[in-house]
Amino acid sequence: MGKLRLGVNIDHVATLRNARGSAWPDPLRAALLAEAAGADGITAHLREDRRHIRDADIVALRAGIGIPLNFECAATDEMQAIALQTRPHAVCLVPERREERTTEGGLDVAGDQARLTEYLKPLRDAGCRVSMFIGHDPRQIEASARIGAAVVELHTGHYSDLHAEGREDEAEAELEALRKAAAMAHGLGLEVHAGHGLTFANVAPIAAMPEVMELNIGHFLIGESVYIGLGRAIEEMRHRMDAARG
Ligand code: PXP
Repeated sequence: MGKLRLGVNIDHVATLRNARGSAWPDPLRAALLAEAAGADGITAHLREDRRHIRDADIVALRAGIGIPLNFECAATDEMQAIALQTRPHAVCLVPERREERTTEGGLDVAGDQARLTEYLKPLRDAGCRVSMFIGHDPRQIEASARIGAAVVELHTGHYSDLHAEGREDEAEAELEALRKAAAMAHGLGLEVHAGHGLTFANVAPIAAMPEVMELNIGHFLIGESVYIGLGRAIEEMRHRMDAARG
């Protein structure tokens, strides 16, 4: 089993900053702290409505951090242009609806294959690893491989919700579907990532999936940093991920 990477999503440092319209807390400072605490990458989602991360944050992160930047965005022309200008290590394409609180479902790659095939070509040519944020539906995995994506990130939000509600049998069924999806994606030559809703309490079974190479975790870590600090929260998550990996 390869080492499991931890990507720290710093969107909600920006959420806190924007709540007051001030200059702090600064997402770049949080990213540098995450890097010092052992994060393997930084993830930032530039939403179309700029509700948390802003364009200037992406520029600052790209110039300021020493670990890979995973630029998360909707598959729009505007975001493609920003990605091509920024040239991050990775571009993770996610569905986006303005009224949602967070990324609620996976991307419909199968239903948008022709457009996405063309969409990701220039990003790939620019040296970005393009990732599709999808559910565990085999059709979406096959489509991701067909369009030439390098990576799929499996949406763990539903599993996380079921786990939090104590619906153990359903959470286990969801885990099983995620395990099958991870194996299938790996078999098709895709690198497998996972994320959404992960916490100290629910990370272990996801971290234990041998095909999963990276977890992207944000909201819980930023929340936990209120109590124990971001550095300690990241170290504890790292510890739990490594322990689950055996
Ligand atoms: N991965 C993707 C593709 C996401 O959209 C998000 C949320 O922005 C995450 C991971 C992190 O989710 P969370 O903030 O719940 O840890």
